[in-house]
Amino acid sequence: MPVAIDAIVHEAVSSIRNKTDFRPYTGIILGSGLGALFRQREWTATIPYTDIAHFPQPTVPGHEGTLLLGHIDGHPLCALSGRFHYYEGHPMHIVTLPVRVMHALGIQRLIITNAAGAYHPQFQPGDLVLIKDHINLFGDNPLRGIHSPTLPQFPSLLQLYPQPYRRAFMQLNTSAELRIHEGVYVGVSGPSLETAAEIHFFQKIGGDMVGMSTVPEAIVAAQLKLPILGISVITNRCIPDTSDQEDTTHEMVLQVAGNTAPHLYELLRQWLKVDFSKYQLP
Ligand code: HPA
Repeated sequence: MPVAIDAIVHEAVSSIRNKTDFRPYTGIILGSGLGALFRQREWTATIPYTDIAHFPQPTVPGHEGTLLLGHIDGHPLCALSGRFHYYEGHPMHIVTLPVRVMHALGIQRLIITNAAGAYHPQFQPGDLVLIKDHINLFGDNPLRGIHSPTLPQFPSLLQLYPQPYRRAFMQLNTSAELRIHEGVYVGVSGPSLETAAEIHFFQKIGGDMVGMSTVPEAIVAAQLKLPILGISVITNRCIPDTSDQEDTTHEMVLQVAGNTAPHLYELLRQWLKVDFSKYQLP
């Protein structure tokens, strides 16, 4: 069934505009266990998803359900504390609705964070990986059935995660404790974890880590021409021929992501100040 997305976005944005006229420049999606990243701050507006038309309530622990709008060091941004996952049963246009809504509020770029399992031999729990590309194995696409007279139906995905964004983030890291890599994110629908054969397959096709989010939001961001800084927090290793992966629990994912959150927050705060005006971003 075609989805008349513009009307849905309009209604969601109207519920926000009834409360605030704040215009964010950067949008941030906070992944599993990273909601606390911004909890201590003063916000211009804090809007529960229950007050936003068409926004469901997140059902997963570690995802709160609040849209935050305000400044960090003078930089206007909005943050989604709580995301909607495909595995919760939401259709793709709802999973990605927050990206369209943030775009309509005014954002010019998007930061996507997530928790991911790593099978690249050098990626360890607690490391950050900057997403340089992704592979969509959801078996679905968030633009399927989307009807909008103003948006491209076949957007290019070749420059989704611009290199200047990644390089700047990498250069900001002065902590000897925190390791930052670059890698290819494989997005799967979940919620089951992967079989050993699937992990072998992901390695063969050029992936470095796997997770159950990000890809749908990134594709919609491409349609809206929003450049992305994508960051995975590695919460566990996926080792196919041992029983290690059986130990991966959602609680563990939340705990590892939560431990890395303060480092991530500090780097993001500095990254927001970087001047990218000399680059031709999409
Ligand atoms: N697999 C899929 N998604 C994940 C994992 C994993 O091992 N860890 C965190 N998100």
